[in-house]
Amino acid sequence: MSIPSSVVVRPARQVAGALRLPGDKSISHRYAMLGAIAEGKTRLENYSTGADCASTLGCLRSLGVSWMCADPDSNTVEIAGRGSMLAEPAAPLDCGNSGSTMRMLCGILAGQHFKSELFGDESLSRRPMARIIRPLSEMGAEISAAEGDRPPLRILGGHLHGIDHRMPVASAQVKSCLLFAGLFTQGVTCVDEPLRTRDHGEVALRAFGAELTRHGNATRIAGGQRLHAIEALVPGDLSSAAFFFCAAALFPGSQLVIDTLLMNPTRARLLDVLIGLGVRISITHLDEQHGELVGTVRVEGNRLTSAEIGGADSAALIDEIPVLAAIAPFTEHGIRICDAKELRVKESDRIKAVAVNLRAMGAELEEHEDGLTIPGGQKLHGAEVDSFGDHRVAMAFSVAALRAEGETLIKGSDAAVISFPSFFKTLQAVVQH
Ligand code: S3P
Repeated sequence: MSIPSSVVVRPARQVAGALRLPGDKSISHRYAMLGAIAEGKTRLENYSTGADCASTLGCLRSLGVSWMCADPDSNTVEIAGRGSMLAEPAAPLDCGNSGSTMRMLCGILAGQHFKSELFGDESLSRRPMARIIRPLSEMGAEISAAEGDRPPLRILGGHLHGIDHRMPVASAQVKSCLLFAGLFTQGVTCVDEPLRTRDHGEVALRAFGAELTRHGNATRIAGGQRLHAIEALVPGDLSSAAFFFCAAALFPGSQLVIDTLLMNPTRARLLDVLIGLGVRISITHLDEQHGELVGTVRVEGNRLTSAEIGGADSAALIDEIPVLAAIAPFTEHGIRICDAKELRVKESDRIKAVAVNLRAMGAELEEHEDGLTIPGGQKLHGAEVDSFGDHRVAMAFSVAALRAEGETLIKGSDAAVISFPSFFKTLQAVVQH
């Protein structure tokens, strides 16, 4: 699906409807990578439609993994597992815009006895990789970056040994990378995270048959375990749902329902924040699929009060902060975000991107090194805003634009293709002008 490079968003009166969303990006990446090194055929229904997860499949194909789209309507992908050993790629692996692809795939490549090179687009080429280079090198992989710790990365894997690693930065991508590498080690790998991050890597490894233990924030995996293929339905992406929940939250009386949605507690912090702001939320039809909670969420818009996001919440809400910041001026008393320095090294510097765009729409705010203070009770006007090539920024400001006076032009709206190609079509379906 192609998205125009700029989109005009008009103010709305209400948001209403019932949705089911494409599969979760974090889970799709992990299921595809583990399916590739499992024994047997993995079948994934509702695989993410985003370009990032297509980058993962593209890299896997270059590594000798056969896969096919078995049903385009349900985006069902079938992956023929190679049972732990991949094939040496003939050319460098293109990770596109996807930090998840590069970081997590390196964990698997660290266990392969061949050389490979991974590169990405301009944004990915600026993102820090020392967080995986150091521990993977300590495990025995030879891994180097082009400049400092930036991609492209070159990696020669094999002969790994388990390590005890305390991650300096709370990152689920790094945790999964090291646990995946841990499958190929002699001995046990222990990854200790400073704060609890999303646990899809651990849940997926167990679904594919691996054993892991967790004590406090430390997760242990023993090397030499074999994985077995699964058949799974990928639940709807909760970070994509965030844009629709926030859109509905902005209009008292709005009602929006999303079913078959990921409800993993390490991802669902947004719902607590919205409840704290005054939004009415109910969850029904809770079920567990391959260790992941799935459910139906109903959101009713209300007058929004205020929120403080910091500490462990900032790590748990890392992908939802841009849209929370974008709706902050419409709350009564504003939203304050701190301890979110990681936002500066995402697909864009998201703190700066949010500040620049909110100011363009007439908002007052303070930008800090690790967050933003955005007073409430403000009126925004339509303006030209920029995605800065970042999918979440494009979508966050499409939501803010719904409550602005006048039209807003979202430049670089096509960035939404990274996680949610049908975003604008879906938004149009639930917005009433
Ligand atoms: C992700 C983890 C987060 C998140 C990213 C996806 C994952 O990154 O921002 O969109 O799937 O593990 P970090 O864990 O590196 O902060």
